Amino acid sequence: MPMYKTIRPYLFKFDPENMHTVAEKLLMLAQAMPLVLENMVNRFCFFDERLRQNILGLNFYNPTGLAAGFDKNATMIKGLSSLGFGFIEIGTITPKPQDGNPKPRIFRFVEENSIQNAMGFNNDGAKVISRRFARIYPFILPLGVNIGKNKITEQEKVLFDYKKLVSSFRGLGDYFTINLSSPNTPNLRDLQNEEFVKVLMQELRKQTDKPIFLKISPDMSIDYMLDVCECAINNGANGIIATNTTIDYSLLKNAKDFGGISGEALKKKSREIFQILSENLFGKTILISVGGINDGDEAYERIKLGASLVQVYSGMIFEGPSIIKDINQIILNRLEEDGFKSISEAIGKGLR
Ligand SMILES: Cc1cc2nc3c(=O)[nH]c(=O)nc-3n(C[C@H](O)[C@H](O)[C@H](O)COP(=O)(O)O)c2cc1C
Repeated sequence: MPMYKTIRPYLFKFDPENMHTVAEKLLMLAQAMPLVLENMVNRFCFFDERLRQNILGLNFYNPTGLAAGFDKNATMIKGLSSLGFGFIEIGTITPKPQDGNPKPRIFRFVEENSIQNAMGFNNDGAKVISRRFARIYPFILPLGVNIGKNKITEQEKVLFDYKKLVSSFRGLGDYFTINLSSPNTPNLRDLQNEEFVKVLMQELRKQTDKPIFLKISPDMSIDYMLDVCECAINNGANGIIATNTTIDYSLLKNAKDFGGISGEALKKKSREIFQILSENLFGKTILISVGGINDGDEAYERIKLGASLVQVYSGMIFEGPSIIKDINQIILNRLEEDGFKSISEAIGKGLR
């Protein structure tokens, strides 16, 4: 979007979290104005039958979704849907409301097209968000609910947090994402172990028929990661979302020594991990790729590597809202060039 690139230097003069709040307010304002929304749909949404998929009983009109963390409180769903996303994941939501870590906690690295964040699951809590969400659900797009533990919850009581979250959203949302992979909640990533994942998936499976995805960190050793993912799938998870942000600070010049890195600096690592995951699990489960996807070619590459769906966060900050339409247009061009009749034919075709 040339206009976005023109105004971007001014937008980037402001603190990232304040800019996020401004974007939220603007989207909320737009939601109250049907004509504005209609204009946004005309400008940003991209429709083509060849991008459509039914996955786990859900209809995705395009494969490009909004990753968790942008709409933590489910306040912008309608506005975001008018930007052309094929699905939206809200959260991470914790049982009780919490403020998150001290500010500043989002940092832009403009030259590197990357972000570092240490938000720490700031959100309004399950009670308020589920009520807000109930006013909009069911929705025209699949909506995911990303859930995580409260910071103060002791490790022995974590299972109860996740069970409480799933029951708070009973009858709401199209899928759940279990977040054990944020680097900004102390000890959360320690829960990415077979013992806990097995019990967690078995318990949540008893509670809900909705698809459950496990969102993983890119910082586990490969064998360990594969064991954890296989364990999740064998105990009821419907798929894996790879990956969350990384704490490999060597990937970004001048990185802070806290928080998680996303965007361009994460791209290669996230893609490599996704490929290995897919080489081992493609066909056995649904795979969703996220991390450094900032254009249609990268999205298409992940699809060829086995991603049924992709998600974007940082790319939208650097490229602007038209990135979704651009990604979907390029995916379609590449499908045509490769002679595929629909996106489903392309998924996994780049795997050895
Ligand atoms: C500011 C910010 C906040 C985020 N918050 C969450 C979150 O609450 N839950 C979650 O699962 N992922 C969260 N993420 C991670 C993204 O969902 C995504 O996995 C990661 O940023 C990699 O994708 P990207 O390179 O397209 O940004 C956050 C990312 C950013 C930049």
